[in-house]
Amino acid sequence: MNRQGYFQRIVVVAAAAVLVAGCAKEDTGGTSESGVPLIKSGVLTTCTHLPYAPFQSKDSSGKVVGFDVALIDLVATKLGVTQEIVDTPFEGIKSGSDLNSGKCDVAAAGMTITDERKQVLDFSEPYFDATQALAVLTGSPVKTLEELAGKRLGVQGGTTGEDYIKKQVAEKKLDIEVVSYRDLAALQQALATNQVVAAVNDLPVWNEYIKANPSRVAVAAGFDTGEQYGFAVKKGNTALLTTVNEAIAAARADGTYDKIYATWIGDKPTS
Ligand code: ARG
Repeated sequence: MNRQGYFQRIVVVAAAAVLVAGCAKEDTGGTSESGVPLIKSGVLTTCTHLPYAPFQSKDSSGKVVGFDVALIDLVATKLGVTQEIVDTPFEGIKSGSDLNSGKCDVAAAGMTITDERKQVLDFSEPYFDATQALAVLTGSPVKTLEELAGKRLGVQGGTTGEDYIKKQVAEKKLDIEVVSYRDLAALQQALATNQVVAAVNDLPVWNEYIKANPSRVAVAAGFDTGEQYGFAVKKGNTALLTTVNEAIAAARADGTYDKIYATWIGDKPTS
């Protein structure tokens, strides 16, 4: 290499170093005490889609609480930081785009682990088992999907419940008008106001709704979809994923999981 080429190269390297240093200064990200990189220093930022009680919803003071929140609080404690929750549409959570764009470190949204989502997210060990259920207004005679012929059935957009129903409708050639709502509140509102004759969502979510509105809604049928919820991190974020898995395992081992379960879900199933 001639002398000029050598100097040019030094200039390029120096410019690159300045650029990197500049970026590092602007980056608000931090590292937890245990060395796990976080997008914002001092906090574990969680993406979720509200409301989804009993997993995440606002209490009367506006604070986001629930089963998932309590479990992720354990992860935050392990990292020596506090949890901060970002409410964002489910689509961006399940597609991986929120994690990829640095909106949050972890997703906790009563989210079912699926093969499709595994392509774009890294899931924790399963932390909850769920199935789908068909809810109707109390007194409705409807017990099966077949009985919804010619009627409107509500689902939540982007969810496994929506996928399940669309598949059933196609496979069994059912004459049902499937209507997708943007979130659980809109779906429950649609059922309560007779916009739809029935609605499908995860069973624990209906159980919670019925606890709050005992005379209004009933579960007409269950669909044993054998789902498992997982927390998710950006693909390749093994440092954080390991911490999440360790926190879940420790909570299961020392009874904390059971306590959180009793608080938010109810008695633990005997299985
Ligand atoms: N378990 C369902 C799914 O993963 C529904 C999750 C909806 N969660 C929420 N926080 N809105 O598709």
